[in-house]
Amino acid sequence: MQSYDVMIIGSGAAGLSVALALPKYFNIALISKSEINEGATFYAQGGISAVMDPADTNDAHIADTLAAGSGLCHRDVVEHIVSSGRDRIEWLIEQGVPFSTRTSKSGNKEFHLTQEGGHSHRRVVHAADATGAAVEDTLVSRIKDYDNVSLMESHAAIDLITTTCQHTKQKRCVGAYVLNAASGEVLAINSRVVVLATGGIGKVYLYTSNPSVATGDGIAMAWRAGCRVANMEFVQFHPTCLYHHRAKTILLTEALRGEGAELLLPNGKRFMTAFDARAELAPRDIVARAIDHEMKRLGLNCVYLDISKKSKSFLLEHFPNAYQTCAEYGIDIASEPIPVVPAAHYLCGGIVTDIKGQTNLPHLYAVGEAACTGLHGANRMASNSLLECLVVASTAVESITDLLKSATNEHVEIAPWDASQVVEGNEDVIISHSWDEIRRVMWDYVGIVRTNKRLERAQLRMDILKGEINEFYSSFRVSKNLIELRNLVLIAELIIQSAKIRQESRGLHYTLDYPKTDDINFLSDTIL
Ligand code: FAD
Ligand code: SIN
Repeated sequence: MQSYDVMIIGSGAAGLSVALALPKYFNIALISKSEINEGATFYAQGGISAVMDPADTNDAHIADTLAAGSGLCHRDVVEHIVSSGRDRIEWLIEQGVPFSTRTSKSGNKEFHLTQEGGHSHRRVVHAADATGAAVEDTLVSRIKDYDNVSLMESHAAIDLITTTCQHTKQKRCVGAYVLNAASGEVLAINSRVVVLATGGIGKVYLYTSNPSVATGDGIAMAWRAGCRVANMEFVQFHPTCLYHHRAKTILLTEALRGEGAELLLPNGKRFMTAFDARAELAPRDIVARAIDHEMKRLGLNCVYLDISKKSKSFLLEHFPNAYQTCAEYGIDIASEPIPVVPAAHYLCGGIVTDIKGQTNLPHLYAVGEAACTGLHGANRMASNSLLECLVVASTAVESITDLLKSATNEHVEIAPWDASQVVEGNEDVIISHSWDEIRRVMWDYVGIVRTNKRLERAQLRMDILKGEINEFYSSFRVSKNLIELRNLVLIAELIIQSAKIRQESRGLHYTLDYPKTDDINFLSDTIL
C-alpha cells in the first residue's frame, strides 16, 4: 500500500498549483488520468481575468461577476477571489508563464489585456490565444523538479476511501482506489489529505469544447462519498465552437468578439443587437441562447463569426492559434466568416466547498472546476475560471498545511481493492452504446433550452441506463471507460435533478415552462 501526506487527483491549473505551493516536506502523489498536461487547462484560450489596468478596479470586476452570476454568486467569495487576482498573476509570472505584453504610449512594457463577454473593462491577461497551454506547460515543467511529488500519469481514481472514527463517529477521507490504466491493477492509496482537482463534465454532452478527460469523475466520487453537490443545472454553453464535419471540440475564443468579431446569419445580417445592448459582448448565456434561438427559428446548422475586418497581421499576432486551426479546415479567418455553434463548455456547480476548498467530508478538498465555491453563481464570466483555480489552490494550501500540522491522523489501514466477484468484460459495445446514448439524451433534452417534459424524458432514460451500467460495473473488471461511464450517468442524473428543482429561468438554466426569474422562491443555490 502506498502512503502519502497529500494525494492530488488531477493535474490541471488547480492540481498543479496546489502541488507547487505545498511545503516541500510533504510527500505528495499527483495523479492524472491521461498524460499530465491533458485537461481543460491546456486548451484554455482567452486568458485569466485580473485587475491589472490602473483604469480598472476590483469593484468593477466584482460588479461584473455578480451581474453575470444572476443573483447567486457569494459576494464574500467573489471579493476574495477578485482581489487576489493580481497576486496570482504575479505568481504565474514567477513560475515563468510568458504572458503577452505590449509597449505603452509612454514606452513602458505592460500586459496586453483583452476583453470578453460581461467584462466592463479590458482585464484578461493572456498568452496570445493559447493561454492555457502556456500555463499548463510552465507549471508541468516546474513540478518535474519537485522530488517530493510522485507523478502518476495514466492513473484513474475510481472512488474515495473513508473511515469512521470509533470515538467521534466522524467520517473522514483517508485515500482513494486508483486504476493503473497500463497494468490494469487497482491500487489502494492511503493519504492524510485528498484533493480533488478533476475538472469539468463537458463529456456528458454530445457537443463540447472539453477534452475527453472531462467526465465529472471527482464530482461523482465526492457524491458517492457523501459530499454535498450544488448548482449542477448551471452548465455553460460556449457560444462559438467551430462547426465543421471533421472538427471535434474546437473553441473559438470569446476574445475574438472582444476584438470586434460579429455574429452573423447566413445572409450576412448581424443579430446580437436585437437580443442585448451589449450585443456580441453580452454574457455567454445570452449569446448562446440567442444563437440557439436563431438556429431553431431559421432551421440553421450554424451561424457565423466574422473577424475579417481585422488585418491578417493583427490576427496572426493576437490569434495565431485560431488562425492556424481554421486554416487547417480550409477557412481563412482574415477574409471569410467562420461557421460556429454553441457547445457545452463549463460547469458552474460542483462539489460544495468553502473558499479554502474544504468539502463537508473532513480531509477532502476540492479545487478548480470540480468545485462550487460560490464564485460563479448561475453563470460564470469568461476567464474567471482559471482565476478561481489559482486563488482557491493557494488558500487550500494554507488550510491543508495547518490541518496536517495539527491533525493527529496518521495513516490507517485500508482494505485492498476487491476484484474477487468480477470477471473480464467482453461486451465493450455496451459501454460505447451507453456512453453515446447519455450524451445524445443530455444534448437533446437537457441543453440550452429545457422543458419539464424534456427533463422527465431524460430522467427516465438515465434511470434505465444507470441500472444497466451499475450491473455491468459490479460484474466486470474495471476499465477506464467503465469508470468514466459510471460517473457520466451519475453526473447526468445530478444535472437533471437540479434542473427539475429549479422551477424558474436564471443564468444558464432556461426552461420554457418557467421562463421568468423567481427571486421569491429560487434566489439560492440548488444543494443536493
Ligand atoms: P482540468 O484542467 O480540466 O484538469 C483536470 C485534471 O483531472 C486532468 O489532469 C485530468 O486528467 C484529471 N482527472 C480527471 N478525472 C480523473 C480521475 N478519475 N483520476 C485521475 N485524474 C483525473 N477558463 C478561463 O478562465 N479562461 C479561458 O480562457 C478558458 N478557456 C477555455 C477553453 C476551453 C477549450 C475549455 C475547455 C475551457 C476553458 N476555460 C477557460 C475553462 C478552464 O480552462 C477550466 O475550467 C480550468 O482549466 C479547469 O482547471 P482544473 O484544474 O479544474 O481542471
Ligand atoms: C474563451 O477563450 O472564449 C474561453 C474563455 C473562458 O471560458 O473563460
